[in-house]
Amino acid sequence: MAPRIAIIYYSMYGHIGKIAEAEKSGIEAAGGKADVYQVKETLPEEVLSKMHAPGQSSSIPFITPDELEKYDAFLLGIPTRYGNFPTQWKAFWDQTGKQWQTGGYYGKYVGVFISTASQGGGQESTALAAMSTFTHHGMIYVPLGYATAFATLANLEEVRGGSPWGAGTFAGADGSRMPTEQELSLAKTHDWSGGVVANTAAAPSSNQQEPVAAVGTTATSGTTGAGNGASDGTKATTVGTNNPDHVNKSEGAPAAEPVAEKKESGPCGLPFKCVIL
Ligand SMILES: Cc1cc2nc3c(=O)[nH]c(=O)nc-3n(C[C@H](O)[C@H](O)[C@H](O)COP(=O)(O)O)c2cc1C
Repeated sequence: MAPRIAIIYYSMYGHIGKIAEAEKSGIEAAGGKADVYQVKETLPEEVLSKMHAPGQSSSIPFITPDELEKYDAFLLGIPTRYGNFPTQWKAFWDQTGKQWQTGGYYGKYVGVFISTASQGGGQESTALAAMSTFTHHGMIYVPLGYATAFATLANLEEVRGGSPWGAGTFAGADGSRMPTEQELSLAKTHDWSGGVVANTAAAPSSNQQEPVAAVGTTATSGTTGAGNGASDGTKATTVGTNNPDHVNKSEGAPAAEPVAEKKESGPCGLPFKCVIL
């Protein structure tokens, strides 16, 4: 059964709202269904008017913590504040103490898309900062990754927001830059219905390389929630041990296989030349 996906965002000037639409259309193009929600404004009118904020969309409903529990997967749209969640998002999470205690979001998939003013403004650190919230709720973070997005993420022809952490856009210092075609198309590749969630909820795919398959098994076997999560935790602890014997064994195994020389290479050596042993 197709996962029920909630796309939830906060957007002060509309950039993240535009990416949310692209995320939804990507999911729908793949045959899935996603509902779009907002989180509520928290700043006073006086401040918002000084910030020239146009106000929130009246056509997008607001999510509540209980409503969110009904979904299998969440895609969160975050306009960065100092490389972190804006307070409006934080205020939402601060209402989820019940779900934190009862595991209401435990084992559910979560991804992010992010807007910053500029390059280096915190797209990746915003995603990283969100990990603590995801971890405390026991949610399973699913990044955009490179599998469907390599060509765009490796394209340096134009300025572009988004990263393997999630789709994204640059708003510009004054908010005048809107999401580009490339950024919107990157958001559409974040296909959680046919691509990410459906595949990760099933058995790990056979074409994954060994180390990736191991991670995929750990991160994605949560089709039945808490039970899988518990076994995942055990695995993560084993891999993360400081025992030097363990480290040597796990590092030694793949190294025994000779790596065939790559026959093709691009002009800059990627992706064929660069083999990570
Ligand atoms: C208080 C404040 C802090 C911000 N901090 C950052 C920042 O650390 N890095 C950055 O690139 N942009 C920063 N921005 C710009 C916002 O990220 C930008 O306005 C937002 O991504 C636009 O998306 P939206 O139209 O969906 O709200 C900040 C904006 C505000 C108002």
